[in-house]
Amino acid sequence: MSQLQSDSTFSQQVIAWYHQHGRKQLPWQLSATADKPYHVWLSEIMLQQTQVVKVIEYFDRFIQAFPDLDDLANADEQQVLALWSGLGYYNRARNLHKTAQLCQLNHHSQLPQNLAQLIELPGIGRSTAAAIMSLAYDQPEPIMDGNVKRVFARQFLVAGEPNKSSTMKQFWQLAETHRALQQPAAYTQGLMDLGATVCTKHQPQCQRCPVSSSCAARKHNLIADYPTKKRKVKQPEVDLFAALKVSDSHVGLQQRDEQGIWPNLWFLPLFLSVDELQTKHPTAQSHFSLTHKLTHRILHIHVYQIHSTETGSEFNMVSRDELPTRPHPKALIHILNQNDNH
Ligand code: ADE
Repeated sequence: MSQLQSDSTFSQQVIAWYHQHGRKQLPWQLSATADKPYHVWLSEIMLQQTQVVKVIEYFDRFIQAFPDLDDLANADEQQVLALWSGLGYYNRARNLHKTAQLCQLNHHSQLPQNLAQLIELPGIGRSTAAAIMSLAYDQPEPIMDGNVKRVFARQFLVAGEPNKSSTMKQFWQLAETHRALQQPAAYTQGLMDLGATVCTKHQPQCQRCPVSSSCAARKHNLIADYPTKKRKVKQPEVDLFAALKVSDSHVGLQQRDEQGIWPNLWFLPLFLSVDELQTKHPTAQSHFSLTHKLTHRILHIHVYQIHSTETGSEFNMVSRDELPTRPHPKALIHILNQNDNH
């Protein structure tokens, strides 16, 4: 099949379904008069690892703080990270800021309208670039994210673990073959919505699916086996020891350095062993422990209470009201809440 041909049946069914059942009221879809590519880019970066409901809240705050790409480029990184606090994967925010600055410098403060130039920007991979091309510029570039992989794995019976390069190659080939030359934005959003709301991981609603009659997995009664399950890799578990000093409505924070977990974010002073913590703070009292999951590690954080009169230069006493201006990981809020309830 040549580049400009496409098997249109599948895409037409998805597009027709999108017009009836797809999502059309998401905040980044409503910004007809504002800078659409900027809104789509920001939402796609947020949506890379976060669910739509949570993204909406962060997206609105972000757009209020940085109404256009120049506002974001001119902000300082701490301000950007502070607005990202709690969303996780903080490199997304750092790359967002860098990309805004590069677009300001090299692309007249606009996102480029070209797949290859988009992919060159920090934080924008092939699928995100294609999502921007199709959703913001209505160009027929195929996307391939987790939801869409599930739809394709079932519809076309693609075996193999979804992230393996040989499987990805099959997904991309199918995505090219089945791209929509008409209404590409509706098709892209429709595919994502179909994967998120109908062709779900558990209990998919095949009776509501516009492409169920051509679905190979359904025909062979193999829906539950596709996509192929990822092998579970056991994640390393790490014990960390945190010094919690609170007084009145202030909490003692330290800005982490550029290496290791949570680079440059604000957190309780952390130690790798009890001994190390107790050498520095001999009167520290064991308080409680909690488990926090990161992508590649499971952290067991053991919190030690430091008396509020103890001095220590590593503690920057920050008012709880001031926390929104200090970029911090979600684990900090979990610890403070647990401390409040103790
Ligand atoms: N996930 C990634 N991009 C999305 C979008 N535009 N709408 C819904 N879910 C998404």
